[in-house]
Amino acid sequence: MAAVLDDPVGASLDGRHAHLARRVGRAATYLPDVSTFATVPPDPDAAAWNDLARLLGRGALADLFSSPATPPPDWEPVFTLDGFQLLWPEDHPAAAAPEAVELGAADVPEMLDLAARTRPGPFWPRTREMGTYLGVRENGTLVAMAGERLRPPGWTEISAVCTLPEARGRGHAARLVTTLAARILARGDRPFLHVAEKNTTALSLYERLGFEIRRPVTFRGFRIP
Ligand SMILES: CC(C)(COP(=O)(O)OP(=O)(O)OC[C@H]1O[C@@H](n2cnc3c(N)ncnc32)[C@H](O)[C@@H]1OP(=O)(O)O)[C@@H](O)C(=O)NCCC(=O)NCCS
Repeated sequence: MAAVLDDPVGASLDGRHAHLARRVGRAATYLPDVSTFATVPPDPDAAAWNDLARLLGRGALADLFSSPATPPPDWEPVFTLDGFQLLWPEDHPAAAAPEAVELGAADVPEMLDLAARTRPGPFWPRTREMGTYLGVRENGTLVAMAGERLRPPGWTEISAVCTLPEARGRGHAARLVTTLAARILARGDRPFLHVAEKNTTALSLYERLGFEIRRPVTFRGFRIP
C-alpha cells in the first residue's frame, strides 16, 4: 500500500488532485500558484521528457520533487535537497486540539507571510486548495499553521508546518500536526510527510509524535534548456 508513496506527486495528480492538474502527454504538473511539483512516468524515455518540456516551457524550472528519474544531460541542476519521507504508524491514535482553526481564502495573505518568515518549504497563493490548512492565532495574529498537501490513494501528506520564532516551543506545531493527523485518520487515510535531513528540530518533533522514517529522499529541480 505504501508503494504509491514512491511517486506521491504522480499518484495525487492521477487521483484526488486531478482537478488541479495540467498535462501534456505523459507529463503532469499542478496549476500555477498551487504547486510547482511535476511528474513523469517511472523510467521516462526521451518522449516523456519532451512532454514535460512542452508542458512547462523552455527555461522553466522542472521541480521533480522526490523522483529519482534523471533528465537529459542538458537539463541544468538547480537544487538538490536530501531529506526523509516519514509515515504515521498503522493504528497509532491522534488527538485533535481545540485551538486549531481552519484557514480559508481570506487568510491566504497571512499564510504567505508566515511561510515567507519561517520557510517551511514551498508555499504559493493557491497551495491551500490542495487540502485543509489549520492555524493558531495569538491575539489575532496567525503564529502557526500546518496543512494537507499531496494526496496519493490512502494517504495524506502533512506540510507547511511552521511557527513564528517568537511563538516556538509552546507545542503549536505538535498540536497542529496531531490535529491534522486525527482528521486524516478519521476519513480513513494515513498521514505521511517529508522533512529535510538537516532540519533536526522538525525531524525530532515528528518522531516524538510517532512518525517513522520510511526512506531517504532527494528533492531535485532542473532548468529546462
Ligand atoms: C519546526 C517548527 C514548526 C516547530 O514549531 P513549534 O511550534 O516550536 O513546535 P513545538 O513547540 O510543538 O515543538 C518544538 C520542539 O522544540 C522544543 N523547543 C523548546 N523551546 C523552543 C524554542 N524556544 N524554539 C524552538 N523550539 C523549542 C520543544 O520542546 C519541542 O521539542 P520536542 O519535539 O523534543 O518536544 C518551527 O521550529 C518552525 O517553524 N521551523 C521553521 C519551519 C520548518 O522548518 N518547518 C518544518 C518543515 S518540515
